[in-house]
Amino acid sequence: MCGIVGCVAKEDCYGKLLSALEKLEYRGYDSAGIALLSAGGKIAVRKKKGAVANLFGAPVAGSAGIGHTRWATHGKPSDENAHPHVAGKFALVHNGIVENFAALKAELCAAGETFASETDSEVIVKLIARLYRGDFFGAVQAACERLEGAYAVAVLCEDFPDEIVCAKRRSPLIAGAGCGAAYVCSDVPALCGAAAFVCPVEDGEFVHIRGCEICFKRADGSAVPKVFCRLAEEEKGAERAAGSRMEAEIAEIPRGLSRTLGWLRACDFAPAARALRGAGRLFTVACGTAHHAALAFGNLLAREARIPVLCETASEFRYGDPLIGAGDVLVAVSQSGETADTLEAVRLARERGAYVIAVTNAEHSTLARLADLPLRTLAGAEVAVAATKSYNCQLLALYYLAAQTVFFKRAAFPAWFPALEGAAPACERAFGCFEQVADLAERLREKPAMYYIGRGTDRFTAAEGALKVREIAYLFAESCPAGELKHGTLALVEEGFPVFAVATARALAAKTANSLAEAKARGAFTALFSQEDFAGGADFSCRLPALPEALMPLVSVIPLQYFACRMCLLRGFDPDRPRNLAKSVTVE
Ligand code: G6P
Repeated sequence: MCGIVGCVAKEDCYGKLLSALEKLEYRGYDSAGIALLSAGGKIAVRKKKGAVANLFGAPVAGSAGIGHTRWATHGKPSDENAHPHVAGKFALVHNGIVENFAALKAELCAAGETFASETDSEVIVKLIARLYRGDFFGAVQAACERLEGAYAVAVLCEDFPDEIVCAKRRSPLIAGAGCGAAYVCSDVPALCGAAAFVCPVEDGEFVHIRGCEICFKRADGSAVPKVFCRLAEEEKGAERAAGSRMEAEIAEIPRGLSRTLGWLRACDFAPAARALRGAGRLFTVACGTAHHAALAFGNLLAREARIPVLCETASEFRYGDPLIGAGDVLVAVSQSGETADTLEAVRLARERGAYVIAVTNAEHSTLARLADLPLRTLAGAEVAVAATKSYNCQLLALYYLAAQTVFFKRAAFPAWFPALEGAAPACERAFGCFEQVADLAERLREKPAMYYIGRGTDRFTAAEGALKVREIAYLFAESCPAGELKHGTLALVEEGFPVFAVATARALAAKTANSLAEAKARGAFTALFSQEDFAGGADFSCRLPALPEALMPLVSVIPLQYFACRMCLLRGFDPDRPRNLAKSVTVE
């Protein structure tokens, strides 16, 4: 959801900005731009509709610069709407949404300003230029006081070579220090290989870079002392040998699971014991794929720990006036740890006194910092927009948490707990079905729609499988509990319509087979994903590696992830950059 970067470096500032922008591109890829401030005090801008690669060419000179990769909110993707935006002596990049931009724009127009773009962001730089009286920091600070909504901005001023002023409210921002370079950036992985130390910026804080010095400031200009931490190895993304990022990230699932398990084993759950033992209710909040992981967790925990678990999609949680309060536990799940809806739900739960556990893949994220107990997944940086390895790692962390909760309530771990050790090898074995799944995709490549069904926990895997196909193959794919098929969806089934069933719960497998048979009787093409070879006569059958039933979602999703990826590639699309979507959704 837009990525911003700022860099001050004597050597190759342009190259450093481009390299960070390429790594930030998963946050938005409608357009990209760079502004550099030369030693002579002139700002040069290069910006274009489309990918960061469009900015390649002769380097722009300068030792202080800012860059942006855009996911359009206000104004279509175009050269004009691309950032940086310029006003007078200033250039600015922005991630977020200025909610009062229409009122501010009207005020500025009345004062004689004209606008080159349709963006809300241009309003900020116009404000800064109008408020400027020779004090760079003061002008940025005064402009931010007028803004409502979310922003992370980085600003250049022609009067101050080698300086960048940044401000942050509700959009992520990280400061980084590298060899001969100082950075600000929307996220940590984009600084891998460039910065050795990083420090997150908190809401309401400003960062003032002068040469290699990085100073955190309050609104009144006073300094905020900060401690930078070393950038960890696991923040790096999957090495891509050939093919798409998404394929590389699926291949990384076993490694991510092993690392996540190692981290969880060393984690001290004791401080959370009281909250978990006494929890009246447990809530989960998450979006997209993370919500499917949370649903699987909620289903398992309610059965095993016998406590009510309410799983809500984060964007709905806060508007439903939830019955959450002191004594309750909220589990928030988010790969990026920056999804705006999830963060707002967490803030509400905290205000009402709930204990917050976060499961996130980003150590320095806002979510990790908001939580009472941050649990990490170590999937490594995930760049493809459609989540894969992070989902498997979320499931693992959530199962681990479920086991701890059961232990705190009943003084015994669930029987499946030791089998978590076998999750990574089981996932590795699941890769054995890829050839078969690739053939299935080939067979179904012309189909315009498909349906996924499952019972019990399998219905969440089915939902995730359908989401993957929608996200990257642009096909209409939906899911429903298998038993619901005959209550409406069956009407869609006609000759050759694909129906996929996930059936890993033995007690329910026969019933799911019945649902599949009902679809087949009406002409459906049926595909079955199960660890058992139960009779059902499906047109396609994929045998999954076996784990204890409770843990099967860890492996059963893998062929579905791969199927979506194959469908996408066969249909000629880029799985890493689906149209209209962004990986980190930092606006509500
Ligand atoms: C976006 C991404 C999804 C992701 C969701 C939640 O919609 O495209 O892949 O599942 O956000 O992201 P989070 O970072 O909170 O897990």
